[in-house]
Amino acid sequence: MAGRIPRAFIDDLIARTDIVELIDSRVKLKKAGRNYQACCPFHNEKTPSFTVAPDKQFYHCFGCGAHGNAISFLMEYDRLEFVDAVEELAGSQGIEVPREEGGKQQSAQQVSQIKADYEIMQMAADFFSQQKTAHAESEKVQAYIQKRGLSAEIVQRFQIGYAPAEWDGLLKHLGRTQQAATQLRDLGMLIENDNKRLYDRFRDRLMFPILDRRGKCIGFGGRVFGDDTPKYLNSPETRIFHKGKELYGLHQARLANRRLDQLLVVEGYMDVVALAQADINYAVASLGTATTPEQIQQMFRYTDEIICCYDGDNAGRSAAWRALENALPYLTDKVKMRFMFLPDGEDPDSLVKQIGKVEFEALIDKAEPIEDFLFKQLAEQADITSLQGKAKLSELLNPMLAKLPEGEFKLLLAGKLAQTLGKSAPAKQTQNNIKEAKQKQASLNAKNSSKATPVRTAVALLLESPQLATTFSHISEEQLQLLGAIDIAGIRLLVDLLIFCRHNPNHNAGQILENWRERPEHSMLAKILAWDHHVTEENRQKVFLDIMENLLLLFVKQRKEVLMTKARMGLIEQSEKQELETLLKM
Ligand code: UTP
Ligand code: MN
Repeated sequence: MAGRIPRAFIDDLIARTDIVELIDSRVKLKKAGRNYQACCPFHNEKTPSFTVAPDKQFYHCFGCGAHGNAISFLMEYDRLEFVDAVEELAGSQGIEVPREEGGKQQSAQQVSQIKADYEIMQMAADFFSQQKTAHAESEKVQAYIQKRGLSAEIVQRFQIGYAPAEWDGLLKHLGRTQQAATQLRDLGMLIENDNKRLYDRFRDRLMFPILDRRGKCIGFGGRVFGDDTPKYLNSPETRIFHKGKELYGLHQARLANRRLDQLLVVEGYMDVVALAQADINYAVASLGTATTPEQIQQMFRYTDEIICCYDGDNAGRSAAWRALENALPYLTDKVKMRFMFLPDGEDPDSLVKQIGKVEFEALIDKAEPIEDFLFKQLAEQADITSLQGKAKLSELLNPMLAKLPEGEFKLLLAGKLAQTLGKSAPAKQTQNNIKEAKQKQASLNAKNSSKATPVRTAVALLLESPQLATTFSHISEEQLQLLGAIDIAGIRLLVDLLIFCRHNPNHNAGQILENWRERPEHSMLAKILAWDHHVTEENRQKVFLDIMENLLLLFVKQRKEVLMTKARMGLIEQSEKQELETLLKM
């Protein structure tokens, strides 16, 4: 792992970036007053509600609520993780991303090793790809590809190739120096025998390069042409390939879809490729393992819905069950997981060939929600008509509930459990809880979206003009901290922001937002940034100062009351006495 990226570098990077230019290179923007507009790239719409504000270095969609700064845009639009987005942004400006010392620093040597590893793996993929037409056996390969119904375009998209039926095909082509041969051995492409002689791992196989999410080749799966075993040979774990973390086809799925509304998890390489051949471009395969927690997490980074597609037999159901168990900690209210089981003897490859895209997608649409699958499976293990069975059910389900994040899904399952156990009261209670939670959320949303409280207005003005924070320098940072303690909604955020802006009066809103990325108030700040405070340009400073003045008065009043109560009860300390005297004079 590399060290952290210094905060100051990120601030600087956002300052150097022109968000309008950045977004315009991906989504054509049109000038509209002070801002720029386009149809939102994050949801379907006909009239533009996606707005980019150059002065705030911020974008916001009034339709779907998408918002953020330059880094957020890259994360959302290019589907990058934070660090990758920073690197992309820096790269586009020709700057290197520095790393802080300490932590698990990657040495320069390690970095160049990994780079060289990706390169040689891609060279191997290119070699196999070229062999499928150049090799003497190419007719056999082409015939097989044709038999599996794959077009040249799909073969190319998945970089499918041929590993020649020789002991030293790859070795001769790429491993001529000692160094390269050792590297290929470390990457699992060559095997060393007892006499220390190296030979090709993959021989006479149809090759499926495994790409990571950014499209770097990190491993291979190779299929035999006949009935030999093993049917598929896979790369071993290496310094760049960890099969429990990767998903075959994820990179291609991301490339084929601007937005991944769903990801379909299937079992095999051929299933992913055959589905793509049928124009179903959102399938991924967990690489011969049960779907791992890392894979689930990885998928939920790119989509909000995972559909697990397995054989209808026992093996398929138990694979599905393991995927479900591994998914539990990630099932927030934002995401969905469903399950579909195929008829006996079919896999997605064979089925989509028979019934075609439309019918296959109809089956996907009918996939059962996770709770249905879960209760069906549990009902098989516990006969809920008996008392023991009911006890067994809660014994099985309770540990699962404990793994779920708080939210409606957990409440729903708990409610279902209670209902099954015949405790109607808790079930009702649960329903009420859900209702209440929903109402709370709705009223929170309504509040957040419109109400012009003084604190909210002050925050909005500060985001727009951080220099305002320097206008009442007679109040010390310590006093500001005290102000944060008064009993009024949002005051803590305002105080934190004030202090931050005092130190960074020249930051733009995009930079400020970046400094809140990891804090819970981040989305609140973003909402306020997108909100129209209706204060005219010339009134801004006055309005801001009035609000601050009133807050200070309120603070003085509340503080006086606290200290006077303390004094009456004989609990006041010497320093507080002095403070009270000063306050009483104000
Ligand atoms: P399947 O046996 O279902 O193969 O294995 P398949 O995907 O339908 O392949 P075709 O249609 O016969 O060509 C499913 C997955 O299990 C792993 C592979 O990832 C394969 O895609 N597997 C299977 C292996 O790793 N090794 C094997 O020997 C068999
Ligand atoms: Mn198959």
